[in-house]
Amino acid sequence: MARIQIGALRKTYPGAKTDTLHGIDLTIEDGEMAVLVGPSGCGKSTLLRMIAGLESVTSGDIRIGERVVNQLEPAERDIAMVFQNYALYPHMTVRGNLEYGLKNRRTPRAEIDARVTEAARVLEIEPFLDRKPQALSGGQRQRVAMGRAIVRKPQAFLFDEPLSNLDARLRGQMRVEIRRLQRRFATTSIYVTHDQLEAMTMADKLVVMNAGRIEQVGSPMDLFDAPRSLFMASFIGAPGMNLLPVDDLRGAGVDLGGLPGNTSVIGIRPEHLTTDTVGAGIVLDLTVEAVELVGSETLVHLGAAGLSAPLVLRRPGALSVAPGTPLRVALPAGHLHGFDGHGLRIGAASRQGQPQTAAMS
Ligand SMILES: Nc1ncnc2c1ncn2[C@@H]1O[C@H](COP(=O)(O)OP(=O)(O)OP(=O)(O)O)[C@@H](O)[C@H]1O
Ligand SMILES: [Mg+2]
Repeated sequence: MARIQIGALRKTYPGAKTDTLHGIDLTIEDGEMAVLVGPSGCGKSTLLRMIAGLESVTSGDIRIGERVVNQLEPAERDIAMVFQNYALYPHMTVRGNLEYGLKNRRTPRAEIDARVTEAARVLEIEPFLDRKPQALSGGQRQRVAMGRAIVRKPQAFLFDEPLSNLDARLRGQMRVEIRRLQRRFATTSIYVTHDQLEAMTMADKLVVMNAGRIEQVGSPMDLFDAPRSLFMASFIGAPGMNLLPVDDLRGAGVDLGGLPGNTSVIGIRPEHLTTDTVGAGIVLDLTVEAVELVGSETLVHLGAAGLSAPLVLRRPGALSVAPGTPLRVALPAGHLHGFDGHGLRIGAASRQGQPQTAAMS
C-alpha cells in the first residue's frame, strides 16, 4: 500500500492540437479512496491510464510510494485496474481467473491457495469457484473481477466506472461492497464514476475535473457546502444548485443592497428554497412549470418571465401542486452562495435588511 503523488502532470495525445491534461497536481494518501468525477471528455480515464502505465506521460511525475513510475511498465507498477468491462477469461473457471495473475508471478502454491480462499470468502463467491464466468450474473462477475484485483495485494486499485453496466439495485449493493473491501484492505484507490451518489458516498477525497484541470478537491461535504466556482455549484448535487444572475433580479426590482458589490450570480440549493416567506431574505413570485414526484421527494420547477433558467425547489415527500400555480418562494440569507464576475465563490453571501418582494411573473 502506498501514497500516490501526481505532480504537474501533462498529457498531449500525438497529433492533438490541445493538451488533454494541463498540469494535474494531486496526492492520494495511503489507504485513501479518491473519487474522480467530471464531464465526459475531461480526462478522467486518461489520468487513470497514465497512473496505470497504459498511456505515456508528456511531462510531470507520477509517484507510487517513493518511486517515480513514469518509465515503468504497467506490470512493474504493482497496481490493479478494474474496468467497466471486467474481461474475465471465459475458458477458465472463477478459481482459474483468480489464480492467473499470481501464477504468472510464480507465487508459491500454498500462498495462492490462501489468498484465493480469503478473497472468495470475503466476496462470497466460494459457491462459484468451479464455474465458468458465463454461468454467473453480472454482479457475480463483477465480484470475481474485484477478487482478481484483491488477490494480487497491489499497492493501489484503479477503478474506471466499474459499475456502469449494472442495474440500480446491484450498483447500490456493489457500491457498499467495494467500499467495505477497500476499507478492509486499506488499499489506496482511485475510482472514476459518473454517478453522484457513488461519488458522494464512496469518497474520502472527491476530485472534480473540468476540461483537463482539477476544479476542486476536498471531502464530499466540503465541496457540497462551499463550491469554489459556478461549475462546481452546478456539477455537485442532483439537481445542482439554482443559479440566479444578479442582473435578472435587479431587472425585476429586487433590492440586493446587502450582497457584496462584486456579486454577479447568487446560488441556492433546491432544498433551501422555501415557501415560508415570513422574515425571509429575498422573496420571489414564481409560477409552477413542472412537478416531478420521485417517490421520497418532489422536485418543483419554477419559472418567471425575468428568469433565464427555472428554479428547482426540493421537498421531502409528495407535494401536489399543479403547473400554472403561482408560488411565492424565499431564498433564506443563510443559504445563499455568491459568485463574482469570474464565476468564483465570494463566500456565503449574507444579506441584512428587510425582506423584499419582487414580482417576476
Ligand atoms: N488515444 C487518444 N488519442 C487522442 N485523443 C484521445 C485519446 N484518448 C482520449 N482522447 C481525448 O482526450 C480527452 C479525454 O478523454 P478521456 O477518455 O480521458 O475522458 P473521460 O473524462 O474519461 O470521459 P468519459 O467520462 O466520457 O469516460 C477526450 O477529448 C478524448 O477524445
Ligand atoms: Mg472515461
